[in-house]
Amino acid sequence: MDYQAPSSQRRRCRRPLLLGACVLILLIVVCVCLGVAFGRRAAGPSNDRITGNFTTAIISKCKQFLGDENSSENKCEEVWDAFSKAYVGKDPCEVPMEAYDPLMQTVREKDACNRMLFWSKTKDIVHQFTEAKKCLLTLEDTLLGFVMDGQTWCSEKGSKETFTTGCPSWDKCERNPVRSFWNRASEAFAQAACGEVTAMLNGSISTPFNNNSIFASIEVKKFSGPKMRALNVVLVKTGNDTATCENDSLQTLQRVLNPSLKYTCKEVQRSKILDCISDPDRPCGDCW
Ligand code: APR
Repeated sequence: MDYQAPSSQRRRCRRPLLLGACVLILLIVVCVCLGVAFGRRAAGPSNDRITGNFTTAIISKCKQFLGDENSSENKCEEVWDAFSKAYVGKDPCEVPMEAYDPLMQTVREKDACNRMLFWSKTKDIVHQFTEAKKCLLTLEDTLLGFVMDGQTWCSEKGSKETFTTGCPSWDKCERNPVRSFWNRASEAFAQAACGEVTAMLNGSISTPFNNNSIFASIEVKKFSGPKMRALNVVLVKTGNDTATCENDSLQTLQRVLNPSLKYTCKEVQRSKILDCISDPDRPCGDCW
């Protein structure tokens, strides 16, 4: 005969079982919730692009540039604040160059009369030159140019974040945060042009003065006297390059240049500039 426990005894036996099952279910629910939350943080499409390191990188490059001066006129946290306000929360194709106006007012660059070097399609050689010889300086040797050179950044409409990937390329849309920054910073650099100004242009291409370049479309338009006196073009040539100072595009440059400014042009071999760069005893005046 099967033994059957009395019903009160059966109920007593089931109670711990029920309790165990409840605890197990509760544990599963908590684990699933935690898994979903952490999974989203790690792999969410938008969170993937967020980088808090960008803020730190920009502020520390700024401090590196300023050294002991960080405490004086330019404060790197203020620079970051003004910089990020230009594009954070905006559509990455709707950031006009004027968005950086407050940043330009926040930063105070030192005057560099007779030492400013502009360039177009000669980025490598001008920066090798200014690195080796301290007589001239380019936009990338000023605070903002130094800090932002080589960086990519953008945000999204309504976002509080900065992204460093998935941003529009230079040509995707004209009003992207990177392009607008360089346009605005170049405009400010040209507005500050003072005394004799040098421009290194590329004599290996058919149009050393290209209407689409920042140099032609923004900087030259801002050159004016009496603070600035002259524009001295150095046309960098390699071997038997055919471009000369008589090049059509350089004739255009002379036509569009403010008539109050003196203009000179000199063809110089790239090898001569490179030799000069690698000899620390050669003064700048010997390089072309
Ligand atoms: N994609 C990405 N970056 C670009 C592109 C592009 N298609 N075109 C220009 N740039 C940015 C890059 O930062 C590049 O190094 O502009 C820089 C210079 O481009 P160039 O065509 O070589 O020259 P230009 O447009 O005349 O600009 C140089 O502007 O940056 C100032 O004072 C600086 O005189 C210099 C001038």
